[in-house]
Amino acid sequence: MRFRSRITGTGSYVPEQVLTNFDLEKRVDTTDEWITERTGIKERRIAGEETTSDLCLEASKRALQAAGVKPGEVDLIIVATMSGDMPMPSTASILHKKLCAKNSGAFDVNAACSGFLYGLSVADNFIRSGAMKRILLVGAEVMSRFVDWQDRSTCVLFGDGAGAVVLERTRGQRGILSTHLYSDGNMWDYICLPGGGASHPPTAKTVKDKMHVVKMKGNETFKVAVRTLEKLVTDTLKENNIRPSELAMIIPHQANLRIIKATAERLHMPMSKVAVNVDRYGNTSSASIPIALDEVVREERIKKDDYVLLEAFGAGLTWASALIKW
Ligand code: UT7
Repeated sequence: MRFRSRITGTGSYVPEQVLTNFDLEKRVDTTDEWITERTGIKERRIAGEETTSDLCLEASKRALQAAGVKPGEVDLIIVATMSGDMPMPSTASILHKKLCAKNSGAFDVNAACSGFLYGLSVADNFIRSGAMKRILLVGAEVMSRFVDWQDRSTCVLFGDGAGAVVLERTRGQRGILSTHLYSDGNMWDYICLPGGGASHPPTAKTVKDKMHVVKMKGNETFKVAVRTLEKLVTDTLKENNIRPSELAMIIPHQANLRIIKATAERLHMPMSKVAVNVDRYGNTSSASIPIALDEVVREERIKKDDYVLLEAFGAGLTWASALIKW
């Protein structure tokens, strides 16, 4: 039988500082009522002194401990992030040093909010091919340093955090059954952070023009997200010959509770089978799925042999899914 990859440990970490909707009411022209109704968010976490690799480190330690794997036993470290410590080197390389890992490779994946599932697909394929045995995959963001704290349409949405998984080679029936990656670059400007790259290198003008913060066409993105995710989840189940009623749990990217509910309704899934943490952490981009996964694992809401569906949508535009037999 061919190799498969299985998640053998999960971990997550969020910074201590809590920023509530009421705190935001004092900063911008918004209300707790608006944010709650339109997004489901009540509060989010904000990193103080910590960097993205610091968040990665804490989440990774917990995932490695849960898997019973030492940093030196990992063949590859992948960090999914769009808010890494610096453009170069990768945050994965900085994490490599902080973890005292040994001979593993290390690189970052950037597919914005779909990043964790893109990373999962890469890791799964390295293991399936037989090239690697153990991979540490982290989704981590310090979004709070890349939002305009005067723009009410974006600053209320995002939060900081990290989630990690250890993937190991297996030959059994359990593990990652399939991963699915998509994108449509025609809508790249729906969500972007235009400054700081080769198109607009940092200058006093790019700073003055606020080009180093997230810009989003929220309503347009919302409509594409709902439509796309509906098709994504039904296609993923169809490809695996699984009925929605056979799913034990959906772990969606946490951008907006209305989007999460729309996808659940499409599959006739009760919200008790849907992981939600957007109320507590806001949109943590590539960290949202691994944080939610770690929560449901630790709360024992999924058990051996359960079917679990992961799905995400984000800048690019990108979208992705994975079906797991736990
Ligand atoms: O994670 C990556 C993918 N991202 C997403 O999937 C995000 C998708 N988009 C969304 O979640 C929603 O579109 C938002 C939560 C961003 C916005 O909700 P919306 O229902 O689409 O609102 P809107 O952008 O259409 O704005 C409605 C109104 C506007 O006022 P007018 O023009 O109707 O007078 C906004 O100016 O709400 C206003 N508004 C606010 N009011 C109070 C926008 N932000 C705020 C705010 N507080 N924070």
